[in-house]
Amino acid sequence: MELRLEGKTALVTGSSAGIGVGIASMLAAEGAMVVVHGRNIERAQGVAAKIRQQGGRCAVVCGDLANRAGVDQVAETVLEVSGGIDILVNNAGGSPETADPGWFFTGTDTWLETYQANVLAAMCLVQALVPAMRERGWGRVINISTAAAITPTSAQPDYAAAKAAMLNMSLSLSKALSGTGVTSNAISPGMIRTAGLNTFLANFATKRGWDNDLARAEAYVLKGAGQTVAKVGEVEDIAYAVAMLASPRSDFINGTNMHVDGGISPSLY
Ligand SMILES: NC(=O)c1ccc[n+]([C@@H]2O[C@H](COP(=O)([O-])OP(=O)(O)OC[C@H]3O[C@@H](n4cnc5c(N)ncnc54)[C@H](OP(=O)(O)O)[C@@H]3O)[C@@H](O)[C@H]2O)c1
Repeated sequence: MELRLEGKTALVTGSSAGIGVGIASMLAAEGAMVVVHGRNIERAQGVAAKIRQQGGRCAVVCGDLANRAGVDQVAETVLEVSGGIDILVNNAGGSPETADPGWFFTGTDTWLETYQANVLAAMCLVQALVPAMRERGWGRVINISTAAAITPTSAQPDYAAAKAAMLNMSLSLSKALSGTGVTSNAISPGMIRTAGLNTFLANFATKRGWDNDLARAEAYVLKGAGQTVAKVGEVEDIAYAVAMLASPRSDFINGTNMHVDGGISPSLY
């Protein structure tokens, strides 16, 4: 099915690595002009080179979204290089703590940084880029949350709470944009195969004395995760969902949270 993304311009934050690479590559393959973003310029340029090799159109804008000045600089440069954004994918995020220190040892600095890199970065980019979408009468905001936003464990409370705020924000924005042709939706990924997941599995295997046996760790983690699809997700699984929501064919989908998590969420919402 033709997704009708030719002539659209998309910003995918955090597309120098992981899920964002899959999203940027798929939107470009579907005909959108894509702004590849990250902090690491070499990585971002490497992603852009691959997109161009495959016949896609893209530009690169780098900058840290973990502080207000960085977000403003990214928004300004994106507007300069693109002339305007039709599709904003707020994908960059996560928590600065890779080793979870636990609920009572996650400090206010970590909470603040996580909120800035996820919630406030997305909010500032919306304020900078969405008014022009509204004036043009068409646009998309797609916020990448996580399954942990509605089914948190005790781990990384700052991260789960920030991602839950992004779900709330996606819905309230859809209402603020009522009748404008601009939609706002969220996607909640489950366990997706990225470098971060591989590091987690390697640590998991090492802790159990499994001699860096990632396949064994993956099978063990999957069994305990409660998914109804017996596999780890791939970045393309999220990219398909983003491309679908980004398409003009999805004009009637607004304010939703799409679970792309192998059935891990024990809830309809
Ligand atoms: N992987 C999963 O299993 C999973 C599951 C649920 C939700 N998610 C969500 O999906 C999104 C992508 O995750 P991922 O696993 O693909 O992450 P990743 O592989 O760690 O890549 C993160 C991307 O975001 C960029 N980034 C991170 N912090 C940034 C900051 N402060 N300013 C600017 N750019 C920043 C990185 O840029 P540089 O590398 O250039 O620094 C990179 O391009 C995140 O929002 C994450 O919370 C992931």
